[in-house]
Amino acid sequence: MEREKVVLAYSGGLDTSVAIKWLMQKYSIDVITLTVDIGQGIDLNEIKNKAENLGVEKAYVLDLREEFIKDYIIPAIKSNAMYERVYPLATALSRPLIAKYLVKVAKENGAKYVAHGCTGKGNDQVRIDLGVKALAPDLEIIAPVREWNFSREEEIEYAIENNIPIPVSRKNPYSIDENLWGRSIEGGILEDPWQEPPEDIYLWTKLENKEPSYIEITFEKGIPVKLNGVEKDLVGLIEELNKIAGSYGIGRIDHIENRLVGIKSREIYEAPAALVIIKAHEALEDLVLPRELAHFKRMLEDKYAELVYYGLWFDPFREALQAFMDKTQERVTGKVKIKLIPWSFSIVGRDSPYSLYDHSLATYDKGSTFSTESAVGFIKLFGLQNYLYALKGGKNA
Ligand code: ARG
Repeated sequence: MEREKVVLAYSGGLDTSVAIKWLMQKYSIDVITLTVDIGQGIDLNEIKNKAENLGVEKAYVLDLREEFIKDYIIPAIKSNAMYERVYPLATALSRPLIAKYLVKVAKENGAKYVAHGCTGKGNDQVRIDLGVKALAPDLEIIAPVREWNFSREEEIEYAIENNIPIPVSRKNPYSIDENLWGRSIEGGILEDPWQEPPEDIYLWTKLENKEPSYIEITFEKGIPVKLNGVEKDLVGLIEELNKIAGSYGIGRIDHIENRLVGIKSREIYEAPAALVIIKAHEALEDLVLPRELAHFKRMLEDKYAELVYYGLWFDPFREALQAFMDKTQERVTGKVKIKLIPWSFSIVGRDSPYSLYDHSLATYDKGSTFSTESAVGFIKLFGLQNYLYALKGGKNA
């Protein structure tokens, strides 16, 4: 009888390397690995070789940077997606994409199982499990790290016994996840919320530039298309902006976060491009969206970010909210000027052909076109019920 197969999401790190052997031994199945490049700066060939040396049946390595941007980051930009208003969701956005490709490769290879290296305490297990189940309810999921009861020492022992190379990065006590949209760091000393994060955890944000400078981002229907007037594909634009803003130390986030599984955890992020782009995008929306739409959108943005964080990417609720967000972007076209200073930035200018800002209405100078006489009647009607309520002896002064 043919052996069953499992497709494992493989990062090349110790946990998922151990998982390859563990799956073979515990489940007596053939292992296919899937590694995706979403801008985390990995060497795909090296990882492919590593998987093959560990005896996998096939090792898929896919560059999905374009798709990650197009189908996940752009929708998040349009929605100004920030969990608890501070975390731009880099890790969370990548999980549904990984789930999608696990399913795809499983189908192509007639695999009965998919597997991932998430622990049993985080959000990522939820995101991948829900993503897989949404797309292929029939597939079975194995999460080796959630199942095995290895201590750190036992895991290393297992690795040595099975000739699994132990990466040097294992020496560092942090758990790090990285892609184009940001870098997430947790563990070690960071688990003490009182301790300031040590400087050496940071990789993308270092203060190298102390002279203030200006940059300009141009958006078209909510999507960044130019940096400093030069057209760029979004992968390039994000990479460049991560470097520029990162060199001012911009993009650090220190967050006590509410995980879906109930734990409060201390998370550090580096997300220079994400923070600058979202703040600039909001500033452009402030200029072009009518007030009630702008206010309502901000409320829905919080919900949207929650759904993404909770792993409900493929849920009809997220999709319905997305349709709303997409519709709002029709006139979010124009440019935003941003001033970069050490450790911080601010929006200092915005311009759009769809701007609703009318200088002759807004000005305090002579000759404004705004009708202050109409204001009197407007206030009367706007406050009519308020007035009626007060007449019945509402409030004491
Ligand atoms: N707390 C973040 C989230 O749930 C980041 C998780 C990062 N994962 C990691 N292995 N460091 O989205």
